[in-house]
Amino acid sequence: MKLGIENIPHHWIEEIVNLAGERIVVVDREGVVLYINSAYCEFLGTTVENAIGRPVQDVIENSRMHIVAKTGQEELASLQPINGSEMIANRYPLIINGELVGAVGTVMFRNPEDWLSYKNKIQHLVEELNYYKTKAERNSKSKYYFSHLVGDSPSFTAVRKLAERVSSSQSAVLLLGESGTGKELFASAIHNNSTRASFPFVPINCASIPEHLLESELFGYDEGAFTGAKKGGKKGHFQLANRGTIFLDEIGDMPLAMQSKLLRVLQEREFLPVGGQKSIAVDVRIIAATHRNLEKMVEEGTFRQDLYYRLNVIKIEIPPLRDRNGDVELIAINLLEKLGRKFYRKGIKLSAEVVERLNQHKWQGNIRELENVLERSINVLDGKIIELAHLPLYLRDQETVNIPVKIDERESVNVADIPVQPLKETLAQVEKKAILNALSAANGNKQEAAKLLEIGKTRFYEKCKLYNIH
Ligand SMILES: Nc1ncnc2c1ncn2[C@@H]1O[C@H](COP(=O)(O)OP(=O)(O)OP(=O)(O)O)[C@@H](O)[C@H]1O
Ligand SMILES: [Mg+2]
Repeated sequence: MKLGIENIPHHWIEEIVNLAGERIVVVDREGVVLYINSAYCEFLGTTVENAIGRPVQDVIENSRMHIVAKTGQEELASLQPINGSEMIANRYPLIINGELVGAVGTVMFRNPEDWLSYKNKIQHLVEELNYYKTKAERNSKSKYYFSHLVGDSPSFTAVRKLAERVSSSQSAVLLLGESGTGKELFASAIHNNSTRASFPFVPINCASIPEHLLESELFGYDEGAFTGAKKGGKKGHFQLANRGTIFLDEIGDMPLAMQSKLLRVLQEREFLPVGGQKSIAVDVRIIAATHRNLEKMVEEGTFRQDLYYRLNVIKIEIPPLRDRNGDVELIAINLLEKLGRKFYRKGIKLSAEVVERLNQHKWQGNIRELENVLERSINVLDGKIIELAHLPLYLRDQETVNIPVKIDERESVNVADIPVQPLKETLAQVEKKAILNALSAANGNKQEAAKLLEIGKTRFYEKCKLYNIH
């Protein structure tokens, strides 16, 4: 006998799904309903005949199935109001032979009471899971090696070599570079290539921690240090990083008072927890990073000079992407592989025109911007080749497509020139311009233009009518 579902006659399967009490829907990559069972239709107040072949958004209220079919990201236990009931929807990408072909969705629980009893049972489990998940993510995030730092350009290779060479030293490292250049990756790679690799790498973002918490986050506190302090006190990041590396990200955003305390630790290799009586000795290596100009901050008196000297023992300046000749394509290919795995879309390539355009672009947001551009392109892409039309508008600006739609000069919007007028009018003006731009980028094809704007066809046609665009 065969092992598996083949033993079940094909026409039984629907009945089995119905008996299992599941409401189930299957859509293709475009979000068109391929299958929906009668239990679901009954609940929706429609029929199977009516639902099949239609866009899922038209069949199911608040559906996100068409999105999951595009992104490949499952959405579990999300609340979805249908027919006035709060439903729990699970949406799974349908992956066949490694390719994303559509999505499968189920909804459970007809009423909130059922949901409530379910929630009470599992809520604490979910919380625990989330806690371990973020912890695990943090751990895996910090695991970068020099081999992850993609780039062949002379300017980048020199910097990577320098970082590799100094990773075994115990001295402080100061990583400078614009936003998105990879400072965090460098910090992690240096740690993992050092003798401290088997001890913790503890990143701390000085800009994102509220000023009044920074001291206790860094140095911990003793029991009874303040009202609400946890029994037994709390270890700070310095203590957690003992024998390892502490990564002080966005050091340029550290308040002056904290800078003095940090300087003390660097000089004396010990610190005092908040409310504590006894200093604690630590052995940590410091890696600091910032996109700010620390020298200028020193001149302006917003960054302590003595701290700057302490941190600036080994300075590594990561070049911006626009100064890394030839690296854009290499990194893009690498990122496409990574994104391909994330979205279950294998073998996506760049057209020659796209490579050229990416090479010309200024990349103010560096690799992070490149990553966002590619992710967005994959989301509007049906085939395997990213063409100019899939890039965001601002990257296509210099494009010279023949424009089938006439754009009236007076209609072009320059933000600086916007007169003071009701906001509604400004927004309408900008919206009209966005539609005209999308149409020109899509060579006049309205369906394609709607896709670029990520709005539905119907809405797109309505707007064209509203703004008199034919
Ligand atoms: N050389 C590289 N090769 C491949 N990917 C990279 C490289 N450098 C950075 N990245 C990717 O670019 C993104 C930005 O990197 P990272 O967070 O380290 O930048 P950052 O310099 O810390 O930026 P910010 O100052 O904004 O915090 C990350 O997603 C990272 O994975
Ligand atoms: Mg960073």
